[in-house]
Amino acid sequence: MSRRAAVLISGSGSNLQALIDAEHAGGLAGTIALVVSNRSDAYGLSRARRAGIETCVLPHEEYSSRKAFDGALAEVLDAAGVDLVLLAGFMRILTPEFVTRFGSCMLNIHPSLLPAYRGLRTHERALADGVKEHGCTVHFVVPELDAGPSVIQGVVRVCDDDTPASLAERVHHLEHRVYPRAARWFLEGRLALRDGVAWLDGEPLRTPLIVNEDEQA
Ligand code: GRF
Repeated sequence: MSRRAAVLISGSGSNLQALIDAEHAGGLAGTIALVVSNRSDAYGLSRARRAGIETCVLPHEEYSSRKAFDGALAEVLDAAGVDLVLLAGFMRILTPEFVTRFGSCMLNIHPSLLPAYRGLRTHERALADGVKEHGCTVHFVVPELDAGPSVIQGVVRVCDDDTPASLAERVHHLEHRVYPRAARWFLEGRLALRDGVAWLDGEPLRTPLIVNEDEQA
């Protein structure tokens, strides 16, 4: 049976779109069974509906606590019987209980070369520091924010005339290349988290795989 993924979003969902496109092209090794958003106005919900994917909105403000919200989220994911949870611009901090429950099958994409620039405003911070390289990271999720084992990174060269917007655009473009790849590895059973270490093809990933922006897809 085809393995099933859920994608969690809060906004535009361009990474969700890249995952949908990969599935349609036969490059995901599984099915996106469910899209969950904590915001009813997330554009990604339209992308999901257009692709005929089941959607679920859990408005976080309707829950009395983070724990209650995460409990409802866990129920929805359990009911859908998913093998993989993909955070794609999901702007919620998850409780340690939730992460412990789903952590071995949950990936996130973050717009920086982790461990650099955890948190928000990554492009601004990278430019302010004058770094030569910037990018994105797909990583397993652990309770500490943006701190889980990295799987793959997309690397862009920072140009002298880059602005946060121009840098964000190039990084976003690479996100759309690396996230479907990591998701496919997981759904194929090639990627796993064991004892806090990411494993790919039976080898521990001591450093993430690197994709450069000028590399052919
Ligand atoms: C991306 O930049 C991703 O790295 C971050 O949130 C953003 C989501 O963008 N986690 P989109 O909604 O997929 O377009």
